[in-house]
Amino acid sequence: MELGATQTILVVDDEANIRKVLSALLGREGYKVLTASDGEGAWELLDSARVDVVLTDLRMPGVDGMQLLKRVIKRYRGLPVVMLTAHGTVDTAVDAMKLGAFDYLTKPFDKEELQASIRKAAAHARVRDAEPGVRHGGHGSRYGIVGRSPALDEVFRTIQKVAASPTTVLITGESGTGKELIADAIHQESPRTNKPLIKINCAAIPRDLIESELFGYEKGAFTGAVTSKPGRFELAHEGTLFLDEINSIPLEMQVKLLRALQSGTFERVGGVSTTQVNVRLITASNRDLTGEVAGGRFREDLFYRLNVVHIDLPPLRERRDDLPLLIERFVEKFNNRLGKQVVGLTNQAFQRLMIYHWPGNIRELENVIERAILFAEGDKIAEDELPNVLRDLQLSPISDTREQPKPEPYVLVENIALSSSTVSEPVGPLKEIIRRHTYSLERDLIGRALKETRGNVTKAARRLEISRKSLQNKMKDLGLRSEDTDDEDVPSR
Ligand SMILES: Nc1ncnc2c1ncn2[C@@H]1O[C@H](COP(=O)(O)OP(=O)(O)OP(=O)(O)O)[C@@H](O)[C@H]1O
Ligand SMILES: [Mg+2]
Repeated sequence: MELGATQTILVVDDEANIRKVLSALLGREGYKVLTASDGEGAWELLDSARVDVVLTDLRMPGVDGMQLLKRVIKRYRGLPVVMLTAHGTVDTAVDAMKLGAFDYLTKPFDKEELQASIRKAAAHARVRDAEPGVRHGGHGSRYGIVGRSPALDEVFRTIQKVAASPTTVLITGESGTGKELIADAIHQESPRTNKPLIKINCAAIPRDLIESELFGYEKGAFTGAVTSKPGRFELAHEGTLFLDEINSIPLEMQVKLLRALQSGTFERVGGVSTTQVNVRLITASNRDLTGEVAGGRFREDLFYRLNVVHIDLPPLRERRDDLPLLIERFVEKFNNRLGKQVVGLTNQAFQRLMIYHWPGNIRELENVIERAILFAEGDKIAEDELPNVLRDLQLSPISDTREQPKPEPYVLVENIALSSSTVSEPVGPLKEIIRRHTYSLERDLIGRALKETRGNVTKAARRLEISRKSLQNKMKDLGLRSEDTDDEDVPSR
């Protein structure tokens, strides 16, 4: 950040009045102010926006100021936190200082004292900013997983919850939704992180070799077995074994796998002695395994053994709010890799990425951006630098959907905020502008869908081709209620 640029203060307090007073006060001092009514809300904001100073109340329902402080210290080392505390909780405030809070103020606060404290904290933030290697949460990236949609947040919470135990985890999701990335994250976050993470793609191994791949073989077990060799289970001892595309394991192997899982022991192919291992198993499938079970292609008992914890990754088209961040991340990645200096996309190109249905999910997006950066001639990726599937998308209302192989749930019409307002938008922070426009585009489309279905969430979800649950999450996010979908002001975020 350059010196002199506006700094952002995150104000966290459960009392709306205090938030208002503090916002006004700090706003007058020239700061940008974000507010949250509890630690949870603050946490979300920290992950998505850049914040220079946190000013938080101590006592709040839910995640309180102390918990917020702990989390900030853990994840945003060096981000100054100023605590606000009522009389009687000064002891706790002192504890907070010991933990690493930057300062504390007692309520009712003295205006001058508050301003001085915030000024000091902000100056501290600037110094910290100048240090190389300080990480911000701007990308919403954890373990290299980009995104801050409610769906992904839930995934992160599950990862945190299950990482520590040796529980078996099943990850499902369409191709390219990031299943392997999640498996990596679970391993990294687990106590096994310094032990091996062994991966095997069951679909890539010929049927008759799967057993020896998994369990190893002894010399002479079959023609060509000139030495003995440990299998993946043995290699993963004390670590994690990731079995990708588990659905493609032949039925007879499923029996053996189940046995190994239940007893923790197995024999190498052609071997007589039993080997015991301590392995944490993570499996993934891009097919719905319950369907495979129903169709008799997957053993039910094995399914239950694998499905102890289930993480289902929604397709990219159901979490479009992750798109801007992902685009930004990949632009940065391929700029670095290809030695380019592309700053982003033209409005039209961006709109196309936003409305496309992404059958290949994040992998497809990544490839599209890589290709576009490679071809980019100007400083922005233009429409004609996108692959045909994206170039051929109609950006105007579709009257005859039969012409479309896959009807687009998000059809752009001319009067949508995104297309009209970005034209006059002054060039500024890409991330912020993108987020703002996605927000208004989503809000507009969802609002209209709700209006057209007279507030029927189920019908609206069907029309938008997203699940009812993701629609409800989005509505919550966007501050929409099913009964009032009129054009009220967009709440500030
Ligand atoms: N949330 C994300 N943030 C950043 N990159 C992601 C994210 N999700 C996926 N990717 C990237 O997209 C690509 C595909 O992800 P991954 O290989 O984990 O998908 P998958 O679900 O295992 O796909 P498949 O079923 O085809 O094996 C990878 O390059 C991965 O790094
Ligand atoms: Mg994969």
